[in-house]
Amino acid sequence: MSNQELINKAIEIREQAYVPYSKFKVGAALLTKSGKIYTGCNIENAAYPVSLCAERVAIFKAISEGETEFIELAVVADTERPVPPCGSCRQVMSEFFDSKMNIHLTNLNDNTMTVRMEELLPFSFQKSDMEK
Ligand code: THU
Repeated sequence: MSNQELINKAIEIREQAYVPYSKFKVGAALLTKSGKIYTGCNIENAAYPVSLCAERVAIFKAISEGETEFIELAVVADTERPVPPCGSCRQVMSEFFDSKMNIHLTNLNDNTMTVRMEELLPFSFQKSDMEK
């Protein structure tokens, strides 16, 4: 699975975004260690805060199917720069992703940036912080 193949899956699912309010479509594709890809798009709601980002849809789909080990994630939106994931998604990513895991952020102009989880959310609050 190349980076581009995973990005293509994110581009494809982005078309399913339900965005009557922001009109801003986002797509995400998550590759698991078992070789499966879980995709997600953003899904908005008339009660705005209930909306869910594409990244969390993909992650929650995978977790709900029993997947716990991930290789890489791709996220795409129609942005100037590679799309930066929101803070809530970064926190959810840090719950499930290894600190060294690669996350490919891109846009429709093929402007891609790959960052590690630890770069996206340094000094993140972890389960282990409650275990003293
Ligand atoms: N959004 C995502 O799906 N992922 C991001 O990384 C940034 C923001 C969504 C949430 C909302 O539906 C729309 O983009 C505008 O904020």
